[in-house]
Amino acid sequence: MALLVLIYLFVFVCATLSQETYMTFVKHTLRWAWPTLLGPARSVRSRLDCAIHCLQSFPSSCHGYLYNESTKICKPSSGLSPYSSPEPSDGDFYFNDSQSSYPDFRHHTLLNETQSVSAYAGYFTKPLTYTEAQATCQSMHSHLFVAKSVIKYFLFLNITTKEYSDWIGLDDLANEGRFVWADDGQEIDVYMKSYLFVSPQPDGQRNENCVYKTSIHDTVKALTFNDANCSLTFSYVCEVDLSLI
Ligand SMILES: *[C@@H]1O[C@H](CO)[C@@H](O)[C@H](O)[C@H]1NC(C)=O
Ligand SMILES: *[C@@H]1O[C@H](CO)[C@@H](O)[C@H](O)[C@H]1NC(C)=O
Ligand SMILES: *[C@@H]1O[C@H](CO)[C@@H](O)[C@H](O)[C@H]1NC(C)=O
Ligand SMILES: *[C@@H]1O[C@H](CO)[C@@H](O)[C@H](O)[C@H]1NC(C)=O
Ligand SMILES: *[C@@H]1O[C@H](CO)[C@@H](O)[C@H](O)[C@H]1NC(C)=O
Repeated sequence: MALLVLIYLFVFVCATLSQETYMTFVKHTLRWAWPTLLGPARSVRSRLDCAIHCLQSFPSSCHGYLYNESTKICKPSSGLSPYSSPEPSDGDFYFNDSQSSYPDFRHHTLLNETQSVSAYAGYFTKPLTYTEAQATCQSMHSHLFVAKSVIKYFLFLNITTKEYSDWIGLDDLANEGRFVWADDGQEIDVYMKSYLFVSPQPDGQRNENCVYKTSIHDTVKALTFNDANCSLTFSYVCEVDLSLI
């Protein structure tokens, strides 16, 4: 009798785990960011086994898994990153979508005597066009970094490195000459515009609609920010609104 109760309890616990597991790992369409694999591929009996293998072998870092229904090959994964590379034959991707599932992001803070500013951001040095960079950020529930205050601008300089040119989330793609921020489409104010650009920039008219920070190797000397052809490829910073964390 006691054994029966134990068996019943065991089945009950497994059923509960399976229900929860199925609910947290949701089928995900991969676009722009891809799973970072945690361990070697393994043969399993079912999708549920794959989830359990991932959680038991990597309890703190399992955020999803790739599972091919016809080959029953299971690949545990941590979060999504634009540095990973997709493999189409891996089958379906099941993902526990939460902020901790994006390993490249972390808190950045800058303080001086009077002010402080924080951002939850990731710096990506794999160069992309402005549109690709924005799409990559969006696939990780973020947007290109915005700097609506001077101290936030210093934080951007602090996150990025001098050696790279980096997109910032500022463009006049929609209306020529009207530069708007990537998070909410608000136009840059006169003060920040004069702070970011050194006259005669921005000077691109219709050909240069996206804003980047120049690198020390850049031919545009003595400028910090410049507008450029959005098809150029630069590194970029993605930022999650702090209210979403
Ligand atoms: C599963 O793997 C096989 C063999 O590699 C491949 O042909 C098939 O396309 C894969 N299935 C999916 C859904 O990707
Ligand atoms: C999914 O992510 C949430 C938030 O990080 C976490 O609380 C939960 O335990 C995760 N679920 C699984 C099955 O890993
Ligand atoms: C702190 O930083 C802000 C923004 O960069 C600047 O305006 C201010 O002068 C700084 N204060 C001190 C004491 O450095
Ligand atoms: C970044 O922040 C660190 C620590 O606050 C500081 O030492 C460093 O000078 C900053 N770098 C830039 C480029 O602002
Ligand atoms: C940007 O550059 C690409 C390739 O270098 C070119 O084909 C395109 O016409 C340029 N776009 C604009 C708006 O000048």
